[in-house]
Amino acid sequence: MKFNLWLTKEPSQLQEASEKTPLKKTLRAIDLAALGIGSVVGTGIFVATGQGAHLAGPGVLLSFIIAAITSGFCALTYSELASMFPVAGSTYSYAYVAFGELIAWIIGWDLMLEYMVSASAVASGWSATFVGLLQTVGLNLPKALVTAPLAGGIVDLPAILIVLVITWILYLGIRESSTTNNIIVIVKIAVILLFVFLGFSKVELDNFSPFAPFGWKGIMSGAAIIFFAYIGFDAVSTAAEETKNPKRDVPLGLMLCLAIVILLYVSVAFVLIGMVPFKEIDVENALPAALARYGIRWGGALVATGAIVGMISTLIITLYGQVRIFMVMARDGLLPASFSRVHPIHKTPHICTWITGIITAFIAGVLPLSMIIDLVNIGTLFAFIIVSLGVIILRKTRPNLDRRFRVPGVPVTPLITIGFCFYLIASLHSTTWLRFIGWLAAGLSIYFLYGLKHSQLQKEYKLKQTKLNQ
Ligand code: ALA
Repeated sequence: MKFNLWLTKEPSQLQEASEKTPLKKTLRAIDLAALGIGSVVGTGIFVATGQGAHLAGPGVLLSFIIAAITSGFCALTYSELASMFPVAGSTYSYAYVAFGELIAWIIGWDLMLEYMVSASAVASGWSATFVGLLQTVGLNLPKALVTAPLAGGIVDLPAILIVLVITWILYLGIRESSTTNNIIVIVKIAVILLFVFLGFSKVELDNFSPFAPFGWKGIMSGAAIIFFAYIGFDAVSTAAEETKNPKRDVPLGLMLCLAIVILLYVSVAFVLIGMVPFKEIDVENALPAALARYGIRWGGALVATGAIVGMISTLIITLYGQVRIFMVMARDGLLPASFSRVHPIHKTPHICTWITGIITAFIAGVLPLSMIIDLVNIGTLFAFIIVSLGVIILRKTRPNLDRRFRVPGVPVTPLITIGFCFYLIASLHSTTWLRFIGWLAAGLSIYFLYGLKHSQLQKEYKLKQTKLNQ
């Protein structure tokens, strides 16, 4: 037999591979939590909150909690794997050990939805908010140049430009981008707290009734959309290789990040619903519009500015995660070797960074946000299902591996996680399922045409087979 699609990696191989292209190890738990918040709190809370409220009514509060519980379970399972394998590459790397090459490739391909396509979505959300803020000060950019062709324009130029600027920051290296991220995280937490503070006294309990006008189905449809707002905390695990003490810092950083995000989101949702009858929430511009409704225009402008700054850090971290995943896939031979080349001075995978940035900019320039959020969600939920399965399988196949962080209650906890993920996927539209299947089919074709022939593991396997036959 020439190929074996189910070849698995040894955990020690992950370590060896990472030593071939060493990255600086500078991050601590607090930096990881900031990385997580930087990645998570972005377009979602400012855009998806309004969308979710229209689907669920005031019951969107429950949608937020359901999406948060799902993410919390996923963070637990991520922590176990990330503390076992402190290497870049996220679920892709873990899947290589747990399931073998074919599933690892499928996950690597799937993660492009969670990272690269998501980054494009955030960039177009950023562009819309930026253009909106300029309009409030009387600056109107030509519509054709700030709107994607599929939304009736020519190109979304601000979305392209912001991605290219961020690509350049990432090219300079982790230290610079980590510091930039920390500053941005402080700014966005501050403006979210400002919104909660300014809006709290305007909350009217009447606005919470009826609580679930569209029933449980509405609440779940809301949760499936709101889930977008939580995506990104697992970017922490992709930075494991650049962490000082990954076994301790990764689980700690993840949990800290998620606890802060849940608190911020539920507070924002509570205040927003309390301030504005859900049918009157402005989907495009929910928080600033809610403040403006009560004449607090300066507050609205500040929150919009914070949103713009906040989305920048989401973009930084999301692109950062994608570059690292591509880099690891290239080390394995599933993508061209140039993707894993590290810059001699900046110590970043520079070629991969620019290729990722240019593709993301292109997608951001041509696709409107609304078309891709669902696809990002389904891709991410699918990845979380694989992670949970991975935890169960590795406990059986590699029981003696050192686990600094152990998910309590295996296999029940990962199975509950899988249940939540499936329930959210089922609450998405069926066209999204079909698009997702199409995406996976495209990825499989690339694997069979390129990856399978260039895979390092397959080459080693063939060599062994040849020796055995001699
Ligand atoms: N969670 C990220 C955001 O809301 C994707 O922008």
